[in-house]
Amino acid sequence: MEAYLLEQNGGIENLKKATLPAPVIKTNEVLIKTKAIGINPIDVQVRNSKDILGMITQGNIPPKVILGWDVAGVVEQTGDDVTDFKPGDEVYGLINMPGLGSTYATYVAAGASQLMHKPAALDFIAAAATPMAAMTAWQAVVTLGQVKQDEKVLIHAASGGVGHFAVQIAKYLGAYVIGTASAKNKSFVTGLGTDEFIDYTAKPFEQQLQKVDVVIDTINSVEHILRSISVLKKGGRLIYLQPHFQSAIEAPLQAAEVSGVGVFVNSSGKVLAEIGELIREHHILPEVTQVFGFDELPQAQSIVESGRATGKIVVSVN
Ligand SMILES: NC(=O)c1ccc[n+]([C@@H]2O[C@H](COP(=O)([O-])OP(=O)(O)OC[C@H]3O[C@@H](n4cnc5c(N)ncnc54)[C@H](OP(=O)(O)O)[C@@H]3O)[C@@H](O)[C@H]2O)c1
Repeated sequence: MEAYLLEQNGGIENLKKATLPAPVIKTNEVLIKTKAIGINPIDVQVRNSKDILGMITQGNIPPKVILGWDVAGVVEQTGDDVTDFKPGDEVYGLINMPGLGSTYATYVAAGASQLMHKPAALDFIAAAATPMAAMTAWQAVVTLGQVKQDEKVLIHAASGGVGHFAVQIAKYLGAYVIGTASAKNKSFVTGLGTDEFIDYTAKPFEQQLQKVDVVIDTINSVEHILRSISVLKKGGRLIYLQPHFQSAIEAPLQAAEVSGVGVFVNSSGKVLAEIGELIREHHILPEVTQVFGFDELPQAQSIVESGRATGKIVVSVN
């Protein structure tokens, strides 16, 4: 198979295309012929930092590191204990999180419990765009945020991968949704159904609203999270995507009399099944704004690394 190996942590030039044997599956695994790969910020963070690679692999860094967690494709082979999938099935999933998903490859081995049948409404590109971002948004809005009808919910980076799913899920639950992004993304964000748009570059967002019930903070900055705490009403809930910030924000949370919880997304076919239902009923849809070929995968990662991606960036595999 063809794959991108991470030769050593660092810049994009360290992703090198290589020809390797296809993975050998265990009895509870499925071998997927890759059709599309979703690119996420964690791919870039692990590429850049040996510490983050060590953290995500819980210290078990293999000799050959293949990045990538999101995949959509066709089942090629199933292990003896697999009953839910058969060769030819179209599937998608967030693979082996935490751990290495190794989806930057033309064949991927995945635990059957981490996969779901691809909803018919999605092509392979849209399906590969979905798992990590939608499952993170689900955990933030539904599982941890427990967003309810008519609550005022502020979603930062509503134009990003996680944010654009979080907006759609919160709207589905009947919340009043305010999304932030820069002005160039206004029509994208309002098109998702937000009730208000805040251009965070025009004026600090905390000068543009107050007293919200829930903030979903997707920004990788303690200072930004502290500003989010300042716009919550007493008893409000902060959901943040950088769980390692917990100790830095505990005292400010207490002082503001609000709660705060960090998200860490895990592979789960069950959660993907819930998301698949919302997709089938047309309540949520991934928005893919750029598609690259397999040879252009490093270019796709560079766009995600810029922090300016709108919606999702996907690599198509022939
Ligand atoms: N803990 C977990 O389990 C978990 C899971 C998934 C993701 N994450 C993390 O969550 C973060 C977001 O992920 P993502 O996939 O949504 O990222 P993304 O798609 O790369 O986000 C890009 C978007 O962020 C917007 N943005 C950047 N700075 C902003 C700011 N200060 N205020 C408002 N919008 C801003 C940009 O809009 P403009 O160009 O208009 O600024 C752009 O559209 C990443 O740090 C990722 O690592 C954590």
